[in-house]
Amino acid sequence: MTNLLIIGTQWGDEGKGKIVDFLVPAFDIIARYQGGHNAGHTVYLDGHKIVLHLIPSGILHPDKICLIGNGLVVSPQAFFQEIDNLKTLGIQVTPNRLLVSRSAQVIMPYHPLLEKIAEESRGQKKIGTTLRGIGPCYEDKAARWGIRVGDLLEPEILREKIQDNLSLKNKYFEAFGYPPFKVESIFEDYQVLGEKMAPYVADISVYIDEQIRAGKSVLFEGAQGTLLDVDHGTYPFVTSSSCTAGGVCTGLGVNPKLVKAVLGITKAYATRVGSGPFPTELQDETGAMIARSGDEFGATTGRPRRCGWFDAVAVRYACRINGVDLLALTKPDVLEGLPEIKACYAYRYKGTLIKEFPSDPWILERVEPEYRSFPRWPGSIHRLKDFSLLPASFIDYCKWLEDTLEVKIGLISTGVNREDIIYNQEKFQKIIGDKDRALA
Ligand code: IMP
Repeated sequence: MTNLLIIGTQWGDEGKGKIVDFLVPAFDIIARYQGGHNAGHTVYLDGHKIVLHLIPSGILHPDKICLIGNGLVVSPQAFFQEIDNLKTLGIQVTPNRLLVSRSAQVIMPYHPLLEKIAEESRGQKKIGTTLRGIGPCYEDKAARWGIRVGDLLEPEILREKIQDNLSLKNKYFEAFGYPPFKVESIFEDYQVLGEKMAPYVADISVYIDEQIRAGKSVLFEGAQGTLLDVDHGTYPFVTSSSCTAGGVCTGLGVNPKLVKAVLGITKAYATRVGSGPFPTELQDETGAMIARSGDEFGATTGRPRRCGWFDAVAVRYACRINGVDLLALTKPDVLEGLPEIKACYAYRYKGTLIKEFPSDPWILERVEPEYRSFPRWPGSIHRLKDFSLLPASFIDYCKWLEDTLEVKIGLISTGVNREDIIYNQEKFQKIIGDKDRALA
C-alpha cells in the first residue's frame, strides 16, 4: 500500500487543495499534520468555491476519513464553524469521518491577543501573520504551557491549566493596558466546546497504525509550504510549524517508513503573503497582472499576495529537503498571454553565482536573481486536459523545470475545476503503484 505526502514547495498557496481533491479517490484516509486555521485550501466543486482552513480537503469526498494530528493547533470555534459551513453545502461531517488528536494543541482566546501585541511591537519588522493565534499557541506548546485537546475533556485539569496560564499571562496583558482574562468564563466556554468535541477525539497515532496495518492508505496533506517551515523556511518570516516532510512523523506519530512517496506542489510562478525576503518578486505591472489573473488574494485573510517569477533555486531546495519524487505544476495558464516568461535558476551575491538556497534572510534579501527567459506560449492552455494539445514552447518550459529541479512533473493543473488537469498515469504509477487506477 502506498501512502503519499503532498507538500508545498514554495510559500504556501501552491494550489494544494485542488491537487489533494483530485488525488483523494485513490486513498482511504486524509491526514493533516501541522498548522491550523491559518491555512486556506481552496477547492471548486460544481462551480462553488469552498475554502477549508482546518479540516483536510478530503472531507469533500463522502466516503473518506479525515484526521487532524497532534502537530496542529486547533481552534475549537474554527473547527465547528467549518463543520457548519460544510453542512450548508450538503456535506455531513460526522465523528466517524473526522478525528482529532487528543494531543493537538488548543488555541485559547488569549493567543490572538498575544500575537497582536507581538506583531505591533515588531513595528516595521512585523511578520504579517494571519493573527489567528497560531504562533503563540505553538510558543505555549514549546514552553510547556499548552492546553491540549485531551485536557478539554477533563474539567479539573482544564480549569487548573487555564488558571496557570492566566496567572502569568494576565500580568503581561495588564502591562500592555489590556483587561485580564477571566478563568471561569474561559473554562465554561471551553468545557462546553470540549464536550461537543469529545466524539471526534482519538489517539491518531494508534488509529493510523491500525488502519495501515489493515491495508488502508493515507494521503498526508501538508499546509503552508517549505519556505514557511519554522526550521527550513525564510526564518523569522515563517509560520511556527514544521511544514516540511519531517513534520509528518512528529505531527501524526507515524514512523518515517510509512511515508512511501512525496508529491511536491509548485506554482508556475511564486507568491507569498506577509513580510520577508522574496528574491524574484515583481513590483511592477507584470506582477500586478499575475495577481489579477491568478486571483492571488489570501484564502484566509483576503490580503493581496506578492507575486514574482518562478524561483528554481528555492524549489530545488524544497525538493531536496522533502525528498520530492514527483511534481504537480499548478496555474501555468495564469502566465499565458505574457510576452515573455522568466524563471530564476541561480542567485548572484556579492559577484558570486550561488545555486543553493541561503539560510540567512539578510543574504536572501540582497541576492540578485539570474533569469532564463522563455518565449510567449501561443494559444491557450487554460482548461486543457490533453498533453498532446499543449504548445511546444510550454512543453520546453516544463522540460527545463524538470531538468533544473531534477524531478519529473506528473500533473499539470490548467484551471480551478477538478477536471482541469493533465495527468501522467505512467509517472504516477511509479510513485503510488496500482492505486493510480482510481484516478484514471
Ligand atoms: P502565521 O502562520 O499566522 O503565524 O503567519 C506566519 C506567516 O505565514 C505569514 O507570513 C503568513 O502570511 C504566512 N502564512 C500562514 N499560513 C499561510 C497559508 O496558508 N498560505 C500562505 N501563507 C501563509
